[in-house]
Amino acid sequence: MRLGMKRYIAFAAVALVAAVVWSGSTVQAEQAGASAAPTFNKDVAPIFFANCTSCHRPGDIAPMSLLTYKESRPWAKSIAGKVADGTMPPWHADPKHGTFVGARRLSDADKQTIAKWVAAGAPEGKAADLPAAPVYTDEWNIGTPDAVLSMQEDYPIPATGEIPYQYLVVPANFAEDRYITDWEIRPGDRQAVHHLLLYLLAPKDVAEAQSKRQQQMMLQRMLGGAPASAANAAPRPVPPFEFACCTQIPAGEEGGRPLPPDQRKDPGPNYRPRPQGMAQGMGGFSPGGSIRHFPEGMGMRIPKGYSLIFQMHYTTYGKASTDRSKIGLKFAKTTPKTILNTMALINASLSIPPGATNHLVENTMTFNRDTVIYSMIPHTHVRGIGWHYEATYPDGRTEVILSVPKYDFNWQHEYVFEQPWKVPAGTKLLAKAWYDNSAANKSNPDATKQVTWGDQTWEEMMYTSITFYLPPPPSTSAQQQQ
Ligand code: HEC
Repeated sequence: MRLGMKRYIAFAAVALVAAVVWSGSTVQAEQAGASAAPTFNKDVAPIFFANCTSCHRPGDIAPMSLLTYKESRPWAKSIAGKVADGTMPPWHADPKHGTFVGARRLSDADKQTIAKWVAAGAPEGKAADLPAAPVYTDEWNIGTPDAVLSMQEDYPIPATGEIPYQYLVVPANFAEDRYITDWEIRPGDRQAVHHLLLYLLAPKDVAEAQSKRQQQMMLQRMLGGAPASAANAAPRPVPPFEFACCTQIPAGEEGGRPLPPDQRKDPGPNYRPRPQGMAQGMGGFSPGGSIRHFPEGMGMRIPKGYSLIFQMHYTTYGKASTDRSKIGLKFAKTTPKTILNTMALINASLSIPPGATNHLVENTMTFNRDTVIYSMIPHTHVRGIGWHYEATYPDGRTEVILSVPKYDFNWQHEYVFEQPWKVPAGTKLLAKAWYDNSAANKSNPDATKQVTWGDQTWEEMMYTSITFYLPPPPSTSAQQQQ
């Protein structure tokens, strides 16, 4: 059918040339050319519906809706630019390496269609060609959740300005360990929630997290005063990696946004700092990706009595509002065979010279037992510009596992492997991160500083959160096969 279409276009082009030669009329030529160009209704709307409107719809995170011709038309030029340079749809993994769930990428054909449509003056086309627009529902897409956990307050979002990350304690208080098979995150204000990352918080830390003392301590750290703990005072040596289940996030290791200058003296009553006891990360939400469904027999544990922390990255959009985000959970009926866990690969001894344009920080980790990796979240702060992960297998073979050549702090993607990555014991994983500490980096808050490890965005991290599980030992699987 596509070939037929091409032939038709070729034929139309020949006819068009003939018409121009014959009549000498450019007006006629333009009219004929326009009819061959892609139209919104026939060619472009299906691309937008499949790739853009999950974010570009009224009330969602993107600045404009692309659901209708009228809404899209004024943006045509900008769309052509962002699509051509790969900024939109936002996705940062190099397509040459690995296949990831929910990868947002346009085919070359789709890119060309958009480019041609814009070049032809972004015509609307025939009403009859317009397919039905996708319907976005307020129902749970995962089916009825077994539990819905919600923020305890309507968090106030001002009309303008920058908001540091906020950490909201969301009680779960399950009477027994629960294993999550599905989750769906519902931002309260989709327009404001740029990301939401989930962490666990032990029962003993909940009261502390909500205490004034803790908030004072974190504020002091935000202001660049006394470090929150001795461990943060100096760059730490890289610990030799020991493979252990349930690695905790060491204190002081999760990123925050710096407080905007006008809030530095007094962050106001709405400041919710990162709790000291924040433990294991669980993944999270970024716009357009709110659902997690773990494969059959797999689950992620929320231990008895634990709470969740929502790490909220809010962006303002010109109108004050409030947010009360929530998460719907589905539980496994019985304890799953495979329990997902997270660990972190970090290099906390980084030190980035002022002005460096392409500073490389590396770290490796060797797996001392067979492991299966489900997903990875590369994380640096605003000076981070790229990531690269390469495995060397016991037989000497090497493989690029994930490459993020244009890392963007504003998009904290979790890269979930389409086929979980089976890592044989003895495999070495090399992680590389690059930083631009020069003035040319528009996000750089200070190009004159030597930058070391720290929570705040003016400090840096070399941090990868890895969600993994351990396969059953060989003897067990052999027994199962009998
Ligand atoms: C995952 C959510 C998401 C998806 C999917 C997405 N966008 Fe965007 N888009 C955004 C956000 C958020 C912004 C605002 C700028 C930013 O944060 O990067 C934006 C900005 C833009 C802009 C710039 C608007 C301006 O202010 O000039 C254009 C153009 C655009 N998107 C087009 C598209 C097109 C076309 C698609 C689909 C092919 C798409 N986007 C898919 C979230 C998304």
